[in-house]
Amino acid sequence: MTTAPSPATPGFFAGLLDPANRADPYPLYDRMREHGPVRLGGGPVVVLTSYRDCAAVLRHPAAVVERRHASLPLGPTPTHDLAGERAAELTGTNSFLFRDAPDHTRLRRLVAKAFTPAVVRGMTPRITAIADGALDRAAERGRLDVVADLAYPLPITVICELLGVPLEDEPRLRQWSSMLARTLDPVSGKSTTGRPDPVELVRANNELHDYFEQLARERRRRPSDDLLSALIRAEESGDALTHEELIATCGLLLIAGHETTVNLIANATLALLGHRHHLAILRTAGAFAAPVIEETLRYDPPVQLVPRIARDPIALPGIEIAAGDMIVMLLAAANRDPEVFAEPGRFDPARENRHLAFGLGQHFCLGAPLARLEADIALTRFARRVREPRLDCERPPYREHVTLRGPAAIPLSYTGILPASGDS
Ligand code: HEM
Repeated sequence: MTTAPSPATPGFFAGLLDPANRADPYPLYDRMREHGPVRLGGGPVVVLTSYRDCAAVLRHPAAVVERRHASLPLGPTPTHDLAGERAAELTGTNSFLFRDAPDHTRLRRLVAKAFTPAVVRGMTPRITAIADGALDRAAERGRLDVVADLAYPLPITVICELLGVPLEDEPRLRQWSSMLARTLDPVSGKSTTGRPDPVELVRANNELHDYFEQLARERRRRPSDDLLSALIRAEESGDALTHEELIATCGLLLIAGHETTVNLIANATLALLGHRHHLAILRTAGAFAAPVIEETLRYDPPVQLVPRIARDPIALPGIEIAAGDMIVMLLAAANRDPEVFAEPGRFDPARENRHLAFGLGQHFCLGAPLARLEADIALTRFARRVREPRLDCERPPYREHVTLRGPAAIPLSYTGILPASGDS
């Protein structure tokens, strides 16, 4: 293992960003993990790929998220006027995903009540109805693209209803959300290929911001039993959260609440189509969805990487991380580390699974119980109702997103879609 910049390391990063690797980045990840921790071009960005290193940093008290600790200005945070657009700090950077304690603790606590396993379990009938409704519509149309017709509509409907966002606004939200999800992608200083246009990015940010401001105004006038109204009550009751934090929290929940789960449902469906005996088991044994989901989260995780900044130096075996360094943890590579998972390239729902797909430590995914339930219901309803599904193309196309990676479409052929009541 070496930590010195080697001629091979820039190739790793370019490979990560290269859209040609999006469908199957795993051979690249294997090579990166074999190489060991990489310091890009001798600069302040370190990439970690082993399970041990990623887990250690995720739990490390000096590994923080607030940008002010970074020695480099990070990512696209347009603070200047862009082609006449109003100046903007990206709303998301105000959300608690990018805040350290004590702000992180205060904001996360306010939202956590909506995501306890008990509250989430109570959503089962509604989520089942949404999944069945999506499959009914596909049956009527006579064609099924798993992404457009099931994996996307299910989590976006659930998070809109939870937040109190009218579903008819979904087409606008979809555009803004997809664009802003790209701000989570790593960028190479040299190339602008595949990067969203900064003017478009600022516009999407401002429009989403204005949208939630308007909705918050309406809910102030006429409160409801949704999460937005609950957050407004917290805002009004004192210093629990500021107005900007309220807007940023809505943006975070909207984006995190569906851009990820879409990919989990899509990736799990692809894995099942490629391992048909598991699909057959799922059709008859409902409880089998949980291990399929955990194995998908390991084998093909919806969130491929997460960043941190070293507030103080961090020593790992084989690399010294300096204060101010940016740390990129490739969770998708750690999840296939052969030191932790036997035959990591094999899809095996029966394995013991300690994947890192939801992160670890303080920022562990708040929506994990909801994501698991949505995926469980979607896969079970799919397996029971869709007869003899087959992929209608050799390999599905992938979205450009690096961090929130997933297929753009999964067109299927099948012999029929059973009615919801006749699926057994
Ligand atoms: C399969 C689906 C999902 C995956 C793979 C996923 C993954 C993750 C990961 C890896 C993190 C940690 C980020 C970090 O450490 O920097 C995270 C955080 C978060 N996730 Fe998820 N997520 C999923 C679904 C959801 C859903 C459905 C929601 C909400 C409805 C949600 C809300 C959040 C929030 C609010 C955070 C920030 C937590 C914090 O900073 O304390 N996620 N998620």
